Amino acid sequence: MTVQARFLAELDAQSALRSAAGLLRTLALPAGVDVTSNDYLGYAADPQLAEQTADFVRTHGAGAGAARLLRGHLAIHAQAEAALAALAQREAALLFSSGWAANTGLWPALAGAGDVVFSHTANHASIIDGLRLSKAQRVIFHHPAELAQQLQAPRAGRAFVAVESVQSMSGQLTDLPALCAVATAHGALVVVDEAHATGLYGRDGAGRVAALGLGDQVLCTLHTGGKALGVGGAWLAGPQALVTHLLNHARSFVYSTAVPPAIVGGLLAALVRLQADAAVVAALHAKADWLRTTLAAAGLDLDGSQSCIVPVVLGAPERALAVALALRGDGFDVRAVRPPTVPRGTSRLRLVVRAPLSEADVQRLAARVIHHTRA
Ligand SMILES: Cc1ncc(COP(=O)(O)O)c(C=O)c1O
Repeated sequence: MTVQARFLAELDAQSALRSAAGLLRTLALPAGVDVTSNDYLGYAADPQLAEQTADFVRTHGAGAGAARLLRGHLAIHAQAEAALAALAQREAALLFSSGWAANTGLWPALAGAGDVVFSHTANHASIIDGLRLSKAQRVIFHHPAELAQQLQAPRAGRAFVAVESVQSMSGQLTDLPALCAVATAHGALVVVDEAHATGLYGRDGAGRVAALGLGDQVLCTLHTGGKALGVGGAWLAGPQALVTHLLNHARSFVYSTAVPPAIVGGLLAALVRLQADAAVVAALHAKADWLRTTLAAAGLDLDGSQSCIVPVVLGAPERALAVALALRGDGFDVRAVRPPTVPRGTSRLRLVVRAPLSEADVQRLAARVIHHTRA
């Protein structure tokens, strides 16, 4: 057996073990009514937005040709960053090719050895990996009261707090006013990942930090374009001094090809659409409220969700897989989320209420979820 054949056999054996535990990840094409994706507003396949993006590409080309610091910095990047900074009501913004790239570029540029980052227990993998790259000490907290206690410990370096404003797997809304008050009182710098809030909260979808008027207590916010805006890419919004620092030190920005015109054009088109879609967003939240109330009344564990992300916690991975499969049989595209994405014993369906769903769709979804989870 060659070294390569032996290595591949070991990988196959590992996959077989994961499969036996109900934990093997596999790819499945979209099928059925979308109650799973983060395309909350249905922008990803919107014909008008696609047409506007195509026009933009026809004008500006397919690619930027280089990293921003070489020849890849185009007028459209400056234009988009000005619009994104204005949306977040911050001095400046900086585009990245994804939320993953933004988090893994941001943290090592912000924090280093000797610093402490207080990281919420439910933080996304991209925040966790950004912190690992940063060499800062990581301390996990669950709620602002615990953070307040942890922040009392003496420290030599700086303190940062990392949270999501809408938690991506539970759908809980982080108590940002309480958290910012604690951080400010203890001299900690706050960074808020608004991946699941952008487009859905605040004026024109600015996010929860802007909606709550907390911009002056938050160092910077991170926004993704691949969720409610239906496109891709990401940006950080904050003070100019921070953006200048990041464009010098965030390695995923410095050493990566500039965000292509297709993404910039898609983001700009989505930003304009959001200005007209306040009623669509309000109706979406109302549908999500109804689904949560109905599923909770049926006794289901929704992990404290308060948003359009409505998890149904089922426990064992096999059970989550079986219920997801049954719902797919009913015509709903539902996926099971299992460890290590969520803690052991909390495998779940991650339902997402989306604007294109009719009230009848949401009612039928609720009925089928209740039916299959009682079976
Ligand atoms: C909270 C959070 N941050 C960052 C990301 C990564 O964003 P992207 O998909 O643009 O890489 C995600 C994606 O799921 C997320 O949920």
